[in-house]
Amino acid sequence: MKKVKFYPVKGYIDFQRNAISNIESFWEKEASKLEWFKHWDKVLEWEEPFAKWFVGGMLNASYLCVDKHLYSWHKNKVALYWEDEEGNTKAFSYFQLYREVNRFASMLKNLGVKKGESVVLYLPMIPELPIAMLATARIGAIHTVVFSGFSSKALADRINDTSAEVLITADLGRRRGKFIPLKEIVDEALKVAPTIKKVVVIKRTREDITIEEGRDFLYHELIKDAEDYVEPKPLESNHPLYILYTSGTTGKPKGVVHSTGGYLVYNYATYKWVFNISAESIYWCTADVGWVTGHSSIVYAPLLHGATVLMYEGTPDYPDPGVWWRIIEKYGVTIFYTSPTAIRMFMRYGEKWVKKYDLSSLKILGSVGEPINPEVWEWYYKHIGGERCPIVDTWWQTETGGIMISPAPGLELIPLKPGSATLPLPGIDAEVVDEEGNPVGAGIKGYLVIRNPWPGMLMGLYGDPERYKEVYWSRFQGTYYTGDYAMKDEEGYFWLFGRADEVIKVAGHRLGTAEIESSAVSAPFVAEAAVIGKPDPIKGEAIVVFAILKEGYKPEDNLKKEIINHVREQIGPIATPEEVHFVAKLPKTRSGKIMRRLLKAVIMDKPIGDITTLEDEASIEEVKSVYEEFKQMMKEV
Ligand code: WT7
Repeated sequence: MKKVKFYPVKGYIDFQRNAISNIESFWEKEASKLEWFKHWDKVLEWEEPFAKWFVGGMLNASYLCVDKHLYSWHKNKVALYWEDEEGNTKAFSYFQLYREVNRFASMLKNLGVKKGESVVLYLPMIPELPIAMLATARIGAIHTVVFSGFSSKALADRINDTSAEVLITADLGRRRGKFIPLKEIVDEALKVAPTIKKVVVIKRTREDITIEEGRDFLYHELIKDAEDYVEPKPLESNHPLYILYTSGTTGKPKGVVHSTGGYLVYNYATYKWVFNISAESIYWCTADVGWVTGHSSIVYAPLLHGATVLMYEGTPDYPDPGVWWRIIEKYGVTIFYTSPTAIRMFMRYGEKWVKKYDLSSLKILGSVGEPINPEVWEWYYKHIGGERCPIVDTWWQTETGGIMISPAPGLELIPLKPGSATLPLPGIDAEVVDEEGNPVGAGIKGYLVIRNPWPGMLMGLYGDPERYKEVYWSRFQGTYYTGDYAMKDEEGYFWLFGRADEVIKVAGHRLGTAEIESSAVSAPFVAEAAVIGKPDPIKGEAIVVFAILKEGYKPEDNLKKEIINHVREQIGPIATPEEVHFVAKLPKTRSGKIMRRLLKAVIMDKPIGDITTLEDEASIEEVKSVYEEFKQMMKEV
């Protein structure tokens, strides 16, 4: 780490502390950097756990991301480059993006979409996805993007929770040269999600698709009647910008609601600090727009800053593992943001794929979604960043709306430590606490909490204020519970250790064990199931299912395969189980709760610890012997 210039950390800590003591004036200053139709009356209304930021202020996300740039040199610069895995490309200047967003907004109005209504977007990584989001925001409707890798059950669950009436999709998505029949998946989902009255289909091919008269419409036909201009609706700062579903500890996904004003202010500020983003940046975040990372890092933050966004529809190793580096070279990407899983995969393929390309345009590298191991950090730093680029390891969540703990080279580059997300951003009061909520000392592992409100924080869970209170604000009095394990070191640097709850992270994707269990149990021959995450050298975690078969079924390998396929078809490829094991009994507490902790201890060969609440000790003995047999078998093959 010789070539990056480092500064002492003291000044930065003072600055950060100061912001915490004056959060209102601190965030007010940041809010003033955006253009508001009407100034706010009050910076913060904090009725724990509900925060309202910039109360009374009026603004519009679509106006700020597109219209605003028409009044400067940004107008004719590229807003969005798009490329797919076949090498097809598109580019939109800010002016062209403005046109598209307006026309899309007009189409939504013609469909009858009103302010405050939800629109479900089930779209692949095509330019129409950000366009649809901005168009929805323009008219004051609320977008709910469902990741297009999710299958019909996951899609239906999310639609049913929002009760949306309009859904936008495409005929298909592309992945590794194969087609994903999105419209067919929608048809399947709508059988059990009856609120949707209108479906708009963006056709990417000439292939025929089934059209249900009166319900399904073709985008290219509807858009013919669209107007060129739709007024961006002035919205109160706390009008919801979007709902995004994320997995929690029960089978039912949580609809995280984000505001307009707070969310935009937070992302505008933090992307400057963390990525030093500007209108000169060529910003590439490899996440899918379907996750919060894509919402903030592909759509809102870069466009607010007038940056050039790169959107790539493809996987990291198709057609070969050099494809991402080729793209960085081709577009002169300056900021690159990806996941530790991707970097681990590239490490395995070796440097030869990287060496072929000129990556000298890169200035800052980012990592997100899961902890990054120090050796992976070093590899990223050396081989991708050429020992020139600081790595920003950014810790955040769907719920936080934006980055919370990360180096901030756009403010001041503090010394980096491979594997640590370093310090909380200014204004964020993060702490590591014990079971009782008391701060633990340096070097001790505990739970990560946030002790004050911040503008990016979720407004709540859609339609469920009680669950919002219970999940995030009841574990420790008066603090936001993140669900993560963490540790602070002597210098106050944060080290993140993954989830402390029943949530797992597979390749950085967040999955609830309960959601996978409920899918496994819906296979006709499964009586009960328990799901845990097992450490995986590339993906971080892999899914392991323990299942009890119904009477009359034998524990055969073909049934294991069927469970794997069933979960994959219902939830999506990201939820494909790695291992399935059959048992006669699952370890449970006397009150009937599955003790996943014990299952995990067995597969990790760790002491199983306290079992006083275990109902039947024989169950854990069985799990041990089943797993022992499995390991033996794996050795033999
Ligand atoms: C969970 C949130 C918004 C980021 C994309 C994922 C884990 C996220 C890091 C990091 C260690 C991380 C946490 C968190 N996580 N970033 N830099 N280091 N862990 O958003 O799907 O809501 O998942 O991802 O466990 O709670 P998400």
